[in-house]
Amino acid sequence: MSGLSDPSVQDDPFEYYASRLATCPVWHEDDIDLWVIGGLAEAREALQDLSTFSSVPSKSRRASDAQIEYHRMLSTHGWARQATLQRTDPPVHTRYRKLLNRVFTPAAVRGFTPHIDEIARSLADDIAARGECEFVADFALPLPGIFIAEQLGLDRTQYRTFRRWADAMLALANRPQMSVEEARHEAEVELEAQHFLAAEFERRRAEPGDDLISMLVHAHGEDEEPFTMGELQDLMHQLVTGGFETTTAAISKGLLLLLQHPDQLALLRERRDLLGNFVEEVLRHDSPVQGLWRQAICPAHTPAGEIPVGASVMMRFGAANRDPRVFDDPDRFDITRHNARNHAAFGFGVHFCVGASLARQEMTSAFEAILDRFATIELAGELEHPLHDPSIFLRPMRRLPLRVTPA
Ligand code: HEM
Repeated sequence: MSGLSDPSVQDDPFEYYASRLATCPVWHEDDIDLWVIGGLAEAREALQDLSTFSSVPSKSRRASDAQIEYHRMLSTHGWARQATLQRTDPPVHTRYRKLLNRVFTPAAVRGFTPHIDEIARSLADDIAARGECEFVADFALPLPGIFIAEQLGLDRTQYRTFRRWADAMLALANRPQMSVEEARHEAEVELEAQHFLAAEFERRRAEPGDDLISMLVHAHGEDEEPFTMGELQDLMHQLVTGGFETTTAAISKGLLLLLQHPDQLALLRERRDLLGNFVEEVLRHDSPVQGLWRQAICPAHTPAGEIPVGASVMMRFGAANRDPRVFDDPDRFDITRHNARNHAAFGFGVHFCVGASLARQEMTSAFEAILDRFATIELAGELEHPLHDPSIFLRPMRRLPLRVTPA
């Protein structure tokens, strides 16, 4: 049976999850020697078992020549990748997380909301005026992209610069087979971002504003050490890579699901109070982050046998969110599902997504604008296959061409 390394399974993994989960909530992908935790209860338990499953990347995997060159360029001409936040375990993680939690408060997200609404409405207005769009490039990418870019000190017209930086920051993860030459080119683009950000960090140290960078630079208390420049660079890298493509995927998938389920679109138009549950059901049904890695640092006893020390383990959020022991008829897309919010799309435990409320707000603002501004929405032509770029951990949709009529 082909598995998670197969691009066609990555493109549409749900039948594969169902067949695996029907046998056991934990399994081993033999061809890539990867243990997968795919049941919701088992994934939650493992994500809380920090003495068995570590977030510190394994040193045993041999880095490719492209990876070595990329990191050499960052450390020689900029700031080397440091292990902060997502790549750490407590107690190291605890300090980072405590300071980050001061930045991503519910009050901060409420403060950002009118501005996110405004970006969403202006993108939707442009599309409504044209009557057609490629939804991923024209709406789902720029909504979170413009928001983060502005937080970094760019203005709306520089969104393309931000896009270039974000693509470079994601390049090693998205294109593991890249050549040394390509790695050198991508590293140069990330270095451009690092030097721009370094100047912005220094500026906000002296003149704080009400943006994310200022909040990060000033997150420490009086008796706490401020983040170093290396830490700030790494944290910003995680915010960009963690918060951009993921939110884009969630917004694109939400729209596609509504088109594929016209009864649910009609229901949402009739009952706007279901918008919050719709957002949760999209995240459950088609989780933007299908899986993330851990390393076993103690032997783990699972229903599929013992996971040995040193093994690579994947918490498979995408499968857990289709676990039939938790979600009735898990493949059905149902915006009235009573326990949709029980999903693990934002992870669980100490690494639970720090940007979850921001992501939920961006999705809510996006669909408010779409429902308000578009009277009709339809696909402009056939969907491409494969629909997603190949990746073992994300499912970024390539293109979604639409025709709309303005409301
Ligand atoms: C729909 C959109 C999003 C999804 C599905 C998502 C998903 C996730 C998941 C599954 C984790 C857990 C990682 C782990 O256990 O190792 C995580 C962590 C994280 N997310 Fe998100 N995320 C989203 C949006 C965002 C946004 C908007 C930001 C910030 C701008 C963000 C920043 C982060 C960071 C920094 C972490 C690491 C937290 C830690 O290790 O303590 N994410 N996210």
